[in-house]
Amino acid sequence: MSLTTIILAAGKSTRMLSLKSKILFKISAEPIIQHVYNAAKKIKSDDIICVLSNPPVELTKFIKENNIKSALQKKPSGTADAVKSALKKIPSKRNNNILILCGDVPFISSQSLNIMLKKLTQSDLCLGTFNQANPKGYGRVIRDGHKVIKIVEEKDASEKIKKVTEINTGIICIKEHVLRKYIGKINNNNKQKEFYLTDLIALLSDNNHKISTYSIKDELETMGINSKKDLVDLERKLLVKKATNLLNKGVLIRDVQRTDIKGDLKVQKDVDIDINCIFEDKVTIGSNSTIGHNCYLNRCKIGKNVHIKPNTIIFGATIGDNCIVGPYARIRPGAVLKNNSQVGNFVEVKNSTIGSGTKINHLSYIGDATLGSNINVGAGCITCNYDGEKKYKTVIESNSFIGSGTRLVAPVTVAKGSYIAAGSTVTKDTPGGGSLTIARSKQVSIPKWKSKTIKGKK
Ligand code: UD1
Ligand code: MG
Repeated sequence: MSLTTIILAAGKSTRMLSLKSKILFKISAEPIIQHVYNAAKKIKSDDIICVLSNPPVELTKFIKENNIKSALQKKPSGTADAVKSALKKIPSKRNNNILILCGDVPFISSQSLNIMLKKLTQSDLCLGTFNQANPKGYGRVIRDGHKVIKIVEEKDASEKIKKVTEINTGIICIKEHVLRKYIGKINNNNKQKEFYLTDLIALLSDNNHKISTYSIKDELETMGINSKKDLVDLERKLLVKKATNLLNKGVLIRDVQRTDIKGDLKVQKDVDIDINCIFEDKVTIGSNSTIGHNCYLNRCKIGKNVHIKPNTIIFGATIGDNCIVGPYARIRPGAVLKNNSQVGNFVEVKNSTIGSGTKINHLSYIGDATLGSNINVGAGCITCNYDGEKKYKTVIESNSFIGSGTRLVAPVTVAKGSYIAAGSTVTKDTPGGGSLTIARSKQVSIPKWKSKTIKGKK
């Protein structure tokens, strides 16, 4: 049995009150549609096709970049019509299952989808449902005893039906030949004058087809995004859940409401995370480390006994054991801080290795540089790595001392055990071995300066 997944994403996004396509809005650091697409890929669909209508440039770009197949629904006139557009694009196959996902229900899990596909082997259609205490806006699943007989959309529902709490999640899997047989029979006799895919249920039920349902356990998997309010509500619920899971596993997350784990955060024992921290992509933190408030960590590895002080940004970097970083440090891609090093306030490090025991504590820029161990970089030092065309490397060998306000004009090497006088502009390699390099104009003091220059004044 093969599987084709259709992602419906051609709606008008009217309730979003935006000029942008709703499925491109980011939730948990990725566009809504990306999450749906990832789920479809995870269950090993043989084919994935996304239904679009007048896609804006950014959406076309996204579809192209991700190599997603698409079908055009000329005029969005309902979910059944969207499915029809997709069916036109795929050759009819025997023994094929079709999984229909909504482009605006981002967190459906591959586990739930696999259960539904299993249930489909014993039925003609499997419907993903959820028992929603606050079902407003969703289609209601109507049963006669245990048997599902129809779905009624919110806008067409009577007061009695509105009280039904079993909702349609919008996720349906169906045998392809059954879908092709009935899809054309759906009409638009409803309040919205739309062709509802959900009318399939009544058609199949009336024609004695077996309909199975799977009641999805986790509310977050079923929540659809129709408005910005839906988007932020769902994102907050997801983030609180992720933070609470870690708290329950022993990570001291000071406030689960104010900790945004948007990617995959792996943490060892006794890690302490203060408020307002954001974690994106893959982040690992070693045992006994602390993350101060307002930190942003993206794609990085933090060692053991590390203290990341408040307001620090670390993106694409590796921090060794026992390091101290921040407050207000910016550690950029390609930065490697070896064990026991320190990078302090208002220091930016890019594509550089900082050796063990080396300290750069105040107001500096270190880019495209290799620093050995036990170096002290004074306040306000700059590696001048760019001449307007190319980037060049700075090397500072171990046990050197770089005085405050030094500019190292790359390419340049500061040899082992060099001392650089404060305020130097170093353009040539230094000899090292305990020598002092002074590269600044000599200080002169001109006597009686005031009386010479300001004439007439005493
Ligand atoms: C739909 C279901 C509803 C369910 C809910 C779950 C229908 C008629 N209703 O309602 O039972 O509870 O999802 O979230 O199916 N789309 C198209 N072309 C169209 C119209 C919509 O591709 O012509 C796409 C939308 O982009 C969206 C998805 O289909 O991704 C669902 O459409 P939407 O308008 O959001 O339907 P809901 O009102 O949420
Ligand atoms: Mg919707």
